[in-house]
Amino acid sequence: MSTRKHPHGKLLYAQSGGVTAVINATASAVISEARAHHLDVLAARNGILGVLNDDLIDTAALSSADVRALLHTPGGAFGSCRLKLKSLTEDRDKYLQLLETFKKHDVRYFLYNGGNDSADTALKVSALAAEFDYPLVCIGVPKTIDNDLAVTDSCPGFGSAAKYTAVSVLECALDVAAMAETSTRVFVYEVMGRHAGWLAAAAGLAGSKEGDAPHLILFPEVAYDEAAFLARVDAFVQANGYCVVVASEGIRTAEGSFVADAGGGMDAFGHTQLGGVAPYLAGRVQAALKHKVHWAMPDYMQRSGRHLASETDLAHARAVGRKAVRYALKGLNSTMPVIHRVRDVPYRWTVRPAPLAEIANAEKKMPADFIREDGYGITEAARKYLQPLIRGEAYPPYGRHGLPKYLKLNLD
Ligand code: F6P
Repeated sequence: MSTRKHPHGKLLYAQSGGVTAVINATASAVISEARAHHLDVLAARNGILGVLNDDLIDTAALSSADVRALLHTPGGAFGSCRLKLKSLTEDRDKYLQLLETFKKHDVRYFLYNGGNDSADTALKVSALAAEFDYPLVCIGVPKTIDNDLAVTDSCPGFGSAAKYTAVSVLECALDVAAMAETSTRVFVYEVMGRHAGWLAAAAGLAGSKEGDAPHLILFPEVAYDEAAFLARVDAFVQANGYCVVVASEGIRTAEGSFVADAGGGMDAFGHTQLGGVAPYLAGRVQAALKHKVHWAMPDYMQRSGRHLASETDLAHARAVGRKAVRYALKGLNSTMPVIHRVRDVPYRWTVRPAPLAEIANAEKKMPADFIREDGYGITEAARKYLQPLIRGEAYPPYGRHGLPKYLKLNLD
């Protein structure tokens, strides 16, 4: 972790990867903290693509009211992107293009707000600047609903998606319980989370005692066994009258293939486009067990549901934004402000710098001791970890029209 001080220059902020309900809260905190240090903030339109295309937004145009409204607005106010730069040699021309943009605008601090792949990009940009002896401090700012960033205890964006998941499963379970006698017997709810089962685990918070829904949770960390799954669904229907299943989009067979990949497409980060596990499982239950099934795939709703954001998550998102600016001004190059859990009960946390090299391209999966012995639920250890992350409600303001007053920035 090198430390370099820079007298002046501008700060460039960019959003990357899947957006969340609170990434704009991080952006708001970055802008507010930078303004407190009389530091100009440029935002890249559509992430690193905006840097490559010299398509930057001067955030000085944002009023204080706009900056405050970002705190409660989902999506990515400046546009995000999925563009993974290859190595400094393979994509040298692109990196040189980035450097040109930094020089042209006298950017001395680069804050890249994203997940694992974005941490990798921030690290590479830092190496490039060092190679050309350009005085640039690069900070990775954590964000992902997948909660799969290494080193940090949790990822801003996860807590709100986790709350959305737990509340939605709790409510759907009440619905299917009421219908089960003569109609729907099985409900399948699909969560995002890519290759890690953190969001699937969060669904477990919807139940508090034996027999509560969700009755079966399918994790990417546990090989999908169709016969065993169907047998368990049927056993719950026979014993309980109905069965609520939560399945991660990233579940795989014992051979390692995804149970359902949406069309098998790949995204720009080289990930298989996932999605479609719920209809697949529902089809199998219907065909094999003849039970009436409903299924839900909330997809973007779980990561844009700012109306159900977690207060803890919002606090995390703001804190990492503030700290990222302070680390940049201190010259803590190639670091990331990560959440450090001090204690579970009462929940206490702080933010500390971690080397990007330990985070880039790493992926944190669910630990074995968070998954119940039978592989279909969460343990007390998982509950203790998850509970504080969904605590508190950070409702957005609503207008007389009955809708949240979300900010729509005019970036033209
Ligand atoms: O990484 C966050 C995430 O929401 C994953 O959970 C999901 O699989 C992926 O992004 C979807 O990516 P996109 O919105 O680019 O299709």
